[in-house]
Amino acid sequence: MPDVPAPGPDFTGGADVLPTDPHLPVRVVVFGDVFDDIIVTPSAPIRSDTDTLASIERRPGGSAANTAAWLGSLGTQVDFVGRTNMADTVRHENALRNSGVTPHLLGESILPTGTIVVIVESAEHAGTTRTMLTERGANAFTSPTDVSDGLLRVATHLHFTGYTIFSGQPHADFTRLIDRAQQNGVTVSIDPASAGFIADHGAATFLETVHGADILFPNRDEAMALTGLTDNDEMVDALTEQFAVVALTLGRSGALVGAGTRSGAGRAVRSGASPEHPIRFAVDCVPVEPRDTTGAGDAFNAGFLAGLFEGTFAGGHALSGSTAELADRLHTAAVRGAATAAHAIENVGARPLGVVTHHHGVNVPHPAE
Ligand SMILES: Nc1ncnc2c1ncn2[C@@H]1O[C@H](COP(=O)(O)OP(=O)(O)OP(=O)(O)O)[C@@H](O)[C@H]1O
Ligand SMILES: [Mg+2]
Repeated sequence: MPDVPAPGPDFTGGADVLPTDPHLPVRVVVFGDVFDDIIVTPSAPIRSDTDTLASIERRPGGSAANTAAWLGSLGTQVDFVGRTNMADTVRHENALRNSGVTPHLLGESILPTGTIVVIVESAEHAGTTRTMLTERGANAFTSPTDVSDGLLRVATHLHFTGYTIFSGQPHADFTRLIDRAQQNGVTVSIDPASAGFIADHGAATFLETVHGADILFPNRDEAMALTGLTDNDEMVDALTEQFAVVALTLGRSGALVGAGTRSGAGRAVRSGASPEHPIRFAVDCVPVEPRDTTGAGDAFNAGFLAGLFEGTFAGGHALSGSTAELADRLHTAAVRGAATAAHAIENVGARPLGVVTHHHGVNVPHPAE
């Protein structure tokens, strides 16, 4: 891996940046993958050594960028930090802006924009198969140091995924980023994103790297890889020993949310989410006709975070308060997560449809509050 992480964008200038006004709307920073998804649907079984007609579509994607786009479309103020080839920076900035995201993209001169070719084939008796061919491209250089202190000073929350953690940058930089967030009072959520990468690198390495993060969004495979367990309740119990909040997503079976430990032995969670009694509840999925499940998890994360911060100011703390308040807030978050995921899977593509023109303030409490 070439050692080139350029210094992060400078967000420190400008009177609007400092000091943080606790009455500003919540501001979420997402950093990580941004991709071009090339979706290939052959009109007939692919023939080698000759032509097969196909429909070929290019859509903006990338797990982290998709979460940012869903958050923006839900009205949350969101900044996205990532890297593309410089030839594609403006196109990706525009796509993010269309979803209501403020982009901070660094342009790479040599590496291409990350690209995934998704070949969608209808296999007889096997429904639809999706073959994914991935070139990480510029995403390989996305580094925790791309997230500047200036941006962390104005942020309320930071979200990133395991894809970025496992793309080759030093693990210690991620732990340092979580520390930097903590020093700025910024809460942190992580989607482990890949059970395969956890298996490759080891659960202990992942858990050590993300030490200090507040919220974990594993799916079932990732939770199994992280805990070595298979029972959903036991996995949530195990993970809440390290994370203040765990939202285990279970595909069509919805999600299981936990906060606080049953053992009482877990660390006093730094974010203040240490309810007197452990919180555990399940939410159902929203039943829809799935057309394209790509990005369901990314959309769930966005809906969850938008719901969690709904009605709070930047200066408030979404994970503090009484057990009942926290349980309420987490419930709103999980329901919003499931609704956003359902919206994503009943439409083709991993990002929200349409252009967001309204803006930010959805999270701001009602003046009467
Ligand atoms: N078929 C479905 N119908 C309705 N909702 C669904 C369906 N599949 C997933 N969801 C919703 O999406 C959420 C996330 O799905 P899942 O657990 O599959 O995440 P994931 O494996 O991380 O997905 P991804 O492949 O996008 O990373 C679920 O908690 C559920 O609310
Ligand atoms: Mg996922």
